[in-house]
Amino acid sequence: MSETGSSILFIGDVVGSLGKRTLLALLPGLRERHEPTFVVVNGENAAGGLGITPKIADELFAAGVDVITLGNHAYHRKEIYGYLDDHVEILRPYNYLRNQPGHGTCVVQSEGVRLGVVNLSGNIFLRAGRPAFTEVDAALGELEGRADHVLVDFHAEATSEKVALGWHLDGRVTAVVGTHTHVPTADARVLPGGTAYITDVGMTGPRGGVIGVRKEQAIRGFVTHMNERFDTSDDDPWLMGVLVRSTQPMKADAIEQVILPA
Ligand SMILES: [Fe+2]
Ligand SMILES: [Fe+2]
Repeated sequence: MSETGSSILFIGDVVGSLGKRTLLALLPGLRERHEPTFVVVNGENAAGGLGITPKIADELFAAGVDVITLGNHAYHRKEIYGYLDDHVEILRPYNYLRNQPGHGTCVVQSEGVRLGVVNLSGNIFLRAGRPAFTEVDAALGELEGRADHVLVDFHAEATSEKVALGWHLDGRVTAVVGTHTHVPTADARVLPGGTAYITDVGMTGPRGGVIGVRKEQAIRGFVTHMNERFDTSDDDPWLMGVLVRSTQPMKADAIEQVILPA
């Protein structure tokens, strides 16, 4: 493949309708400024903070999102199950049980470049039926020869597990980006083998809450140790993501954070 340069804009967990509106409002400007070849968005919290619906997924695709990834809230809304089976470009973690709805890899094409995407779940503190570190090899096997670049969205809680997966895949994929904790980390870099890595890209949603939840409710839960109703905060929305630039197949030249107020 000859490539003059391509880039992937990856945007972290879209939280609620405010997160969706923030994404839709900022995406045209980001396209103009960075001209990304691909836009990949984690949408696991797009439906009121938990899960995603077919209507929201359709809206994201209509806005030009190439691939939607998910995570531990993938199955919160039952109406998405059939959609996950029927739509190639929306992924749930690859290492879930094989009989759960949906699939964990896809390939999309833009400007003559083929991007493979893998959605993967951590095994620490999250329920994923199969082990991430061995199953990702199977996922990459599925993509072999079908993609010029591969991006892995590692949806995981523990920083150690995420850092380890970055090293495990260094030199084998274009990018490993972490999601799920909703707080961006300051460790974005290209690893020695050429894989762009960040432990967590953050979320697209209300920074004025507690990882998306109204702060008063989250605090009350910690204070009282009682069950609290959790609503999505609408305080101080931001978009958080990363831009990965490449000039060679399966390698990144640079990764930079994209963190913007609505
Ligand atoms: Fe999330
Ligand atoms: Fe999550």
